Amino acid sequence: MSPEEPKRGPLGGVRAALPEQAPAADPLAPVLPRGGPVAVPDPGAGTGPAASCPLGACDGSGWLIDEDDEARPCECRRRRIERARTSGLVGSLPKRYRGVSFERPPVSDMARQPGLSATVGAVRRYCETIGEQLDAGRGLWLMGGPGTGKTTLAMLASKAAIEAGRTVAIYSTPALLARIRRTFAAEGGEDGYLAFFDRLVSVDLLHLDDLGAERTTEWVLEQLYAIVDRRYNDERSIVFTTNLEEPELTRQVGARTVSRLVELCDGNPLPLFGEDRRVELAPAAAPPQPS
Ligand SMILES: Nc1ncnc2c1ncn2[C@@H]1O[C@H](COP(=O)(O)OP(=O)(O)OP(=O)(O)O)[C@@H](O)[C@H]1O
Ligand SMILES: [Mg+2]
Repeated sequence: MSPEEPKRGPLGGVRAALPEQAPAADPLAPVLPRGGPVAVPDPGAGTGPAASCPLGACDGSGWLIDEDDEARPCECRRRRIERARTSGLVGSLPKRYRGVSFERPPVSDMARQPGLSATVGAVRRYCETIGEQLDAGRGLWLMGGPGTGKTTLAMLASKAAIEAGRTVAIYSTPALLARIRRTFAAEGGEDGYLAFFDRLVSVDLLHLDDLGAERTTEWVLEQLYAIVDRRYNDERSIVFTTNLEEPELTRQVGARTVSRLVELCDGNPLPLFGEDRRVELAPAAAPPQPS
């Protein structure tokens, strides 16, 4: 462990404040809020007779009464509790990706390109069955070179989850790790960190962009492992993008983390082939100025 890294706490957490890092200038700025621990309201609150069950299953009380007069919790109650637990997690897409749709370029173009159509089809099936996928804790693993459309496709999954009323946290992985460091340093030490960790592992979908782009240190590997392992154990979905092929990703983030991601994503990275489309989209270089 290098001297500037924190000591480890439970869940791979940190015990000592780190020097503040410059905030990452990243279009995928964290969607999670900057606040401290989230208060968890009484799960029964707001479930009086006036409330209605969004699933149409119970009378709005959050409870179902069976034939033997036994009460059991309705699924809407579980969702309400989850939402309260992760309250403040804003499920909004970064501006650049807000209009993303299968029906519009670039995705409609990608669907026609030989190196991309199968992957677009797989993402489409995932989005069309998003409720089922999240309930089963299944994720997506999008792999390819820079500018091939990975983040664009991953945003479609996050958008589908948001539209289905699920809780989502979208992070670029380096920004997430910087945020964890800052949370520990600024928001009440280990308590702040644990509250943040708890929210992070509780959302229905965690979207990690650019996994493997972070600088590898023992501390980083432990943070990633703690997050992925907890979500794996709880069968909660992770959608992630990476520039790295599996052996390289394993070297970068560790075999135990990748092993869990493989299972969460049903074994398969979805590949994106092709050139960096940003280069094509860039305005033509300005002509040289006379000296
Ligand atoms: N196949 C494509 N056809 C047309 N435009 C595309 C295609 N793929 C990506 N683009 C465009 O290229 C830009 C980069 O896409 P995106 O951010 O999804 O790439 P990425 O694979 O996540 O790149 P990086 O690895 O650098 O993060 C966006 O403006 C996107 O609309
Ligand atoms: Mg990207």
